[in-house]
Amino acid sequence: MVELRFHGHSCWQIDHGEHRLLIDPFLGDNPKADIAPGDIDRLDAIVLTHGHFDHIADAEEISNKTGALIVSNFEIATFFEGKGCKAHPMHIGGGRQFPFGHVKFTIAHHGSTGPGGESLGNPMGVVLTLGDRRIYHAGDTGLFLDMQLIGEVSGPLDVALLPIGDNFTMGVEDAARASKMLGARLTVPMHYDTFDVIEVDAADFAARVEAQGGKARVMQPGESLQL
Ligand code: NI
Ligand code: MN
Repeated sequence: MVELRFHGHSCWQIDHGEHRLLIDPFLGDNPKADIAPGDIDRLDAIVLTHGHFDHIADAEEISNKTGALIVSNFEIATFFEGKGCKAHPMHIGGGRQFPFGHVKFTIAHHGSTGPGGESLGNPMGVVLTLGDRRIYHAGDTGLFLDMQLIGEVSGPLDVALLPIGDNFTMGVEDAARASKMLGARLTVPMHYDTFDVIEVDAADFAARVEAQGGKARVMQPGESLQL
């Protein structure tokens, strides 16, 4: 069994057997997060989709405390190695089997500048395969037609985690279209309502997905989902 717990914004904790992963930790500076960085006591890996602060903010602290391996693009992995973290560099299109599961990075259309203006490579999405369960986290991105390819090549996807907040990423309409292209069994929205500029109606997103024959679930920080 795989359990996904939503920690707000684009941060997800994924438990699979004895293994625990974290994607895009943004906890300490996110008033809507349900936990603080210090609450995570054990962790195998932190997967980072891109260098923006609302995706990497707590990676250094959590990695150094738990010994979790940071898995990201070459530039981000090197950036965190420079801060004393354990890191494994990968890049778009590359996959690798780790003890905690299989990680494969996809494209995403966005930016990836670090908190201090560092050039942290290209933004990515990620497909995680844990046992017989498959999860797609889109990172921050606009809609792109290759999502169809991600659904075909990596699929079937059990869940697609998609940004819907508009302004910086896909909005509700484009994300509903993305959901159809990916063909995931379940779509869960993220990256909305954290800041004023990305306030959207998540129920409207869910209704659009359901209207096209899909399944969507809106989750609050602290809620879990079992696959
Ligand atoms: Ni971003
Ligand atoms: Mn973001």
